[in-house]
Amino acid sequence: MTDPHPRERELIAAARDAARRAHAPYSRFAVGAALLLTDGSVVTGANVENASYGLSLCAETVAVAIASSAGRLADIVAVAVIGGAMDAASHATGSAPVGPCGRCRQVLNEAAQMGGRDLLVICAAAEGEAVDRYALSALLPHAFGPADLGIG
Ligand code: THU
Repeated sequence: MTDPHPRERELIAAARDAARRAHAPYSRFAVGAALLLTDGSVVTGANVENASYGLSLCAETVAVAIASSAGRLADIVAVAVIGGAMDAASHATGSAPVGPCGRCRQVLNEAAQMGGRDLLVICAAAEGEAVDRYALSALLPHAFGPADLGIG
């Protein structure tokens, strides 16, 4: 998965825009995620932290929950993720791509298996041009999923 998806730049831009709406006053690390759906529409999310730190929600998980709540869990084909330390204006910074955490990989896997497809995971930097591209199945090999419970 090394060729850019035709919507890649748009998805990265949407993830960067979503990160502007992160609620991350504790880590000061803003993350944005943009999901591409089968009909071409885009669903975004940003991390939502909590004063009880362990309750914080990752951007990818928020985005998947929004898509699922719209009845679109099985329609996700790609996700772009960006993240970086916030500057004084609360904008994400940094030139290194950020990948989904382990929990988010599992959350994305639920969407992938329910849709019967692998997902393209686009990991981009908050600033600059650096991009890494993966199949979700490469980031979470031998995944446990709905099929193991006879679902999907
Ligand atoms: N975070 C995400 O939103 N997604 C990830 O995949 C990794 C981490 C958030 C959680 C927390 O709000 C901040 O980044 C620092 O860990």
